[in-house]
Amino acid sequence: MPEGLENLHVAIIMDGNGRWAKKRGMPRVLGHKAGGKTLKNIITYAAENYLKALSIFAFSAENWLRPKEEVSFLMDLLDEYIINEWSSITDNNIKFLVSGNVNLIPEKTRNSLLKLIDDTKNNTGLMLNMALSYSGQEEILECVKKIAHKVNSGELSVDDISKETIIEHLYNKELPEIDLLIRTSGEQRISNFMLWRLSYAELYFTDVLWPDFTSDEFNKAIIEYNKRVRRFGKTDEQIKS
Ligand code: IPE
Ligand code: IPE
Ligand code: MG
Repeated sequence: MPEGLENLHVAIIMDGNGRWAKKRGMPRVLGHKAGGKTLKNIITYAAENYLKALSIFAFSAENWLRPKEEVSFLMDLLDEYIINEWSSITDNNIKFLVSGNVNLIPEKTRNSLLKLIDDTKNNTGLMLNMALSYSGQEEILECVKKIAHKVNSGELSVDDISKETIIEHLYNKELPEIDLLIRTSGEQRISNFMLWRLSYAELYFTDVLWPDFTSDEFNKAIIEYNKRVRRFGKTDEQIKS
């Protein structure tokens, strides 16, 4: 892995599990199973290479609309994942976070997610943010409502609302802006992923399907990111000086 990852927040839209399975004449759910293995490898790799934060899109609010068998398979897979990865997450000093409407996750799985968050809250290594039942617009909507309540009760005045106020009320306020967004499977869209924090992210799209995404592919994305010039509105000359 290239150097200098300690300050990076990478986000991944893990896409293409269904197509990976279809290509092999297998049911879609086996694509999700294979995708779970990829995720495990990428997380270990990110933690070993001191990445600051990794946000992964595991299940969107819109994904509830999928056939009920697929949704329940994904929930079971999540449950299994948490159990199997528990010690690897805690042993690797990973701080586990969840973004999304966890109230919709089945109770047993939700309870283990909450316990893992609590068990790892003092860890200082990789911040692993799993987006589950997640919608970027809902995150912003919830944030607006929380702020409006504070204004209503007199705790906050409208003129004191700043960007920091918004960040305070997003899911997991400690998560920094995203530096690099990777999306697999050739789709080139954001699909309602972390809208606020993606504002100035570099975008990297690859045709590789998620189950085929290796640490080498991850490296390729980082190398490409390192070549990008992040101007944040300034000129090239200003950036170099
Ligand atoms: C991504 O793979 C995983 C989830 C959305 C849960 P898909 O299931 O979207 O795979 P494709 O896009 O159908 O190939
Ligand atoms: C986005 O993938 C959500 C996840 C990766 C979990 P989808 O496959 O659901 O996205 P769209 O609907 O094709 O944009
Ligand atoms: Mg998809």
